[in-house]
Amino acid sequence: MELIVSVVAAYLLGSISFSYVVAWNIKKIDIRQHGSGNAGATNILRVLGKGPAITVLALDILKGIVAVWLAKLLEWSNMLPHFSPLGEVEGLAPALAGLAAILGHNWPIYYGFKGGKGVATAIGVIGSLVFFPAVYVGITAILSIVITRYVSLGSLIFGVGTPVILWFTKDYYGHPDPYFYLTALLGIMSLWKHRTNIKRLIKGDESKIGEKSVRKE
Ligand code: G3P
Repeated sequence: MELIVSVVAAYLLGSISFSYVVAWNIKKIDIRQHGSGNAGATNILRVLGKGPAITVLALDILKGIVAVWLAKLLEWSNMLPHFSPLGEVEGLAPALAGLAAILGHNWPIYYGFKGGKGVATAIGVIGSLVFFPAVYVGITAILSIVITRYVSLGSLIFGVGTPVILWFTKDYYGHPDPYFYLTALLGIMSLWKHRTNIKRLIKGDESKIGEKSVRKE
């Protein structure tokens, strides 16, 4: 039961699109019709500037953290009755709640299922589940953004890099298996969500941070 409650709560929480909310409150615009059309912090940076972008980034990360910790607390507290043997699998509830929050962010129920690419929420989720591996991949991703000024490249490095580092550090950190499967799925989802960014990166015409002209999806 706690599995169902935490997954549904995480999806509903993840569905709150902070980029939509912030853009609508500041400028009465639908962020999905501006810039790249993506409902995420990078596009908010382009369209509305640094302050709103940092706010959106922080809130999108926070919803990933809250989703995972709510699932962990429900699991530990034993508040709700167990209906399913799945509830006994170590790490499954927080991993599924994290996945649900990212699915909500990418396909939000409140906004016609058109959301973002899930990177900020994935940072919150993965950082809450496997802190040190997330930090190592996060630093690599940030360095790649600083060097190339391609946010999408950093996002892809984070998405694809986390299952790789979890695979190689499993024995050292002893993560439960669902964490690895979650990050592997998120890596695939990240590649799919960034498919137009990837094409532009290959062609060399991807938008860079601070550039005025923007490529739409
Ligand atoms: O996380 C989103 C970022 O990687 C790319 O955003 O707006 O340039 O498609 P955008």
